[in-house]
Amino acid sequence: MRILLTGATGQVGWELRRTLAPMGEVKFYDRYGLDLAEAPPLAAAVRALQPDLVVNAAAYTAVDKAESERDLAFAVNATAPRVLAEEAKRIGAMLVHYSTDYVFDGEKASPYVEGDPPRPINVYGESKLAGEQAIQASGCRHLILRTSWVYGPRGKNFLLTILRLAKERPELRVVDDQVGAPTSSLAIARATPQLLAKGAQGLYHMTAGGETSWCGFARAILKGAGLATPVIAIRTEDYPTPARRPRNSRLDCSRLKSDTGVALESWEAQLAEVTSALA
Ligand SMILES: NC(=O)c1ccc[n+]([C@@H]2O[C@H](COP(=O)([O-])OP(=O)(O)OC[C@H]3O[C@@H](n4cnc5c(N)ncnc54)[C@H](OP(=O)(O)O)[C@@H]3O)[C@@H](O)[C@H]2O)c1
Repeated sequence: MRILLTGATGQVGWELRRTLAPMGEVKFYDRYGLDLAEAPPLAAAVRALQPDLVVNAAAYTAVDKAESERDLAFAVNATAPRVLAEEAKRIGAMLVHYSTDYVFDGEKASPYVEGDPPRPINVYGESKLAGEQAIQASGCRHLILRTSWVYGPRGKNFLLTILRLAKERPELRVVDDQVGAPTSSLAIARATPQLLAKGAQGLYHMTAGGETSWCGFARAILKGAGLATPVIAIRTEDYPTPARRPRNSRLDCSRLKSDTGVALESWEAQLAEVTSALA
């Protein structure tokens, strides 16, 4: 099987290089090999490789910067998935794509299910929703996995930032009123070939089990790393950012479990795995 993987230097893409390898020959691209903001070379790359499977792990993920780079965010998160989907449809390839809890406004009192109407409250969320919709409209065989709060042993992420700041500052102040499930790049990359092997298609929510706040996550990160830096709980209002963020980022993953039998481990177990990968 020929596999085209984008975003190979990203958190999830990096791990996918390893987990997709047993499925076939993986041709992977970083942004220098294939710029997703440029549609014609993207289409040409798919046409040249004629892959059986396209895995799109690339994305514009700078949530705050997206507020002032709307066109670029949409080029990478909406136009590029559309182009990949159209090309996949043309050659009969399967497309795997990742999306986000940020397609929702966070106002629901319980975890979101796949059928809940999306209503993004920031540009990143809007662009990711447009990407999902373009893939669905293309008619290609696809698997869209909405996940949340992604972190891992490498890349730009909350865990690595907290570990760095804890060594630089006497105390940390972290938002306690946004709730979600921190999900590791390792778990996402492991589950992806499992789901493909089971023939999963369509839109699914896939996050770690359980829930916490950013503050709860920060405290658990420091505890796992043996650091005693105090973490003060603050409100979203006390930490203004250019992009608004949903208060409720919880995604109900029961459809994934009932359709495929796949359920990711708890966020605590995933954190323990990533922490030991760092050691
Ligand atoms: N991070 C999260 O908290 C989160 C939450 C929910 C869903 N997701 C989704 O999960 C998926 C994987 O996210 P991640 O955390 O692995 O993201 P990430 O670490 O930011 O990786 C994104 C990758 O996309 C690449 N990229 C960005 N712009 C590009 C362009 N114009 N052309 C080619 N490549 C480009 C980046 O390249 P560089 O390395 O060169 O920058 C990077 O390799 C994405 O679809 C994301 O939207 C992420």
